[in-house]
Amino acid sequence: MSPSAGPLRTVSVTLRVNGVHHAVVVPVHYTLLDLLRRQLGLPGTKPSCKEGACGACTVLLDGRPVTSCLVLAASVDDRTVVTIEGIAADGGLHPVQDALVECGGVQCGYCTPGVVLSAVALLADVPEPTPDQIRRALAGNLCRCTGYAKIVEAVQVAARRLAAQRAAVRP
Ligand code: FES
Ligand code: FES
Repeated sequence: MSPSAGPLRTVSVTLRVNGVHHAVVVPVHYTLLDLLRRQLGLPGTKPSCKEGACGACTVLLDGRPVTSCLVLAASVDDRTVVTIEGIAADGGLHPVQDALVECGGVQCGYCTPGVVLSAVALLADVPEPTPDQIRRALAGNLCRCTGYAKIVEAVQVAARRLAAQRAAVRP
C-alpha cells in the first residue's frame, strides 16, 4: 500500500475478493463498500445508512462479518473479502439463501445480502445455533420487512441442511 501526493490522494490496494486477486488504486477516502461497488463492479453489497447501523453492507473480511461502510479500503491491503456474489456455489444458491426464500425470509431483499453473510459466518462458527444465538448474530442486520421470525427460522433450516450434507459425506 503506497499513498500518492496530489490533489486527489490515492492509495494502491491488493486484495482477494471472492477468490479473485485484485490490484486497485482508490481515493484514500474510499471505504471497502466504495471499492467493491465502484471499483470492482460488485453491486450485491448494499449501501444504506453508511454509518455502521443497518448491516446492509455486511461482507466477510478474513472470514469475519464487517460493515464495509466503516472499513477504509486502504486497510484491506493483502486481505480476503467475500461478498454475496461469492456465496453461491456451483451456480446454485447457498443453503442459507435457499432457506430464506423457502421460509419467506426475503421480501424487498435489500437487507438479504448482509443477512446471508452474517448467517454464513455464524454457521461456520456454530453449526447448530439456537434461536437466541441466531438473533444475536443477526442483531446488526436490520430488516424493515420481515419481522425477523422467518429469517431466524430460515437460518435454523439451513443449519439442519448443512448438518445433513456434512453427515452424508462423512466416511
Ligand atoms: S450501510 Fe453499512 S451499516 Fe448501514
Ligand atoms: S426484506 Fe426488506 S429490509 Fe429485509
